[in-house]
Amino acid sequence: MGLFAIGDLHLHFQTDIKVKGQTKGVWRDHERKFKNACDRQITDKDTLVLVGDHTWGKNLSECEEDFSYIESLPGRKILLRGNHDMFWDAKKTSELNERFQGRLEFLQNNYYSYEDYALVGTKGFTFEGPFYLNRKGQIIGWDEEREKHADSLIAREAERLRVSFEAAKADGFRKFIMFLHYPPTNILEEESIFTKMAKEYGAEQVIYAHSHGEMRFHDSLEGMVDGVYYSLVSGDFLKWCPKKIL
Ligand SMILES: [Fe+2]
Ligand SMILES: [Fe+2]
Repeated sequence: MGLFAIGDLHLHFQTDIKVKGQTKGVWRDHERKFKNACDRQITDKDTLVLVGDHTWGKNLSECEEDFSYIESLPGRKILLRGNHDMFWDAKKTSELNERFQGRLEFLQNNYYSYEDYALVGTKGFTFEGPFYLNRKGQIIGWDEEREKHADSLIAREAERLRVSFEAAKADGFRKFIMFLHYPPTNILEEESIFTKMAKEYGAEQVIYAHSHGEMRFHDSLEGMVDGVYYSLVSGDFLKWCPKKIL
């Protein structure tokens, strides 16, 4: 039995995407590359967590083929919400879980178990700028209005994450793997409410995605920091090979 994770499939079987760069290079034919990698690595006894940004479809009917593709992947599939997942209203997660019962599981304000671990998570959020640089490329300031707005989104996501941790704790879980779609920190890698909660609940690992392209791959924490192991699992970073978490 293994636990695997990857994020940012950005599927578009039914959507005509005009997003620059997502049809070329590492993105070319990425659905086939990823399916092949899953078929090689993952069996029906394994669990695959998809860490958000599943599809460009704006509603469920625009995502039907994307979901059929996800369902065709081997193993148990657990989905986390990303910023592009317009089909997913956080408050209506139980409707998604009913609709896809026995096929896909949606992680939001709940948790799932894997062996003696609780898999907890939420989309998260982090202030992404704009940052102002000096001539040497050093950060000398940022947009404080936008930072204030980001702070309210971060607080809401932190509350959702706490609901997930507390539900698992109430059921007796003491071992946690924590999933976020957004990186757990800003690009300055400052401590955040998410890094604090990982430590508070004793999460062994924090898995996140969202960062695309060479320039963004090292925006946040990686490896062991304060007793928590951080991993970026965005699909283009992993070149479409799911990462084995446990
Ligand atoms: Fe993404
Ligand atoms: Fe994203």
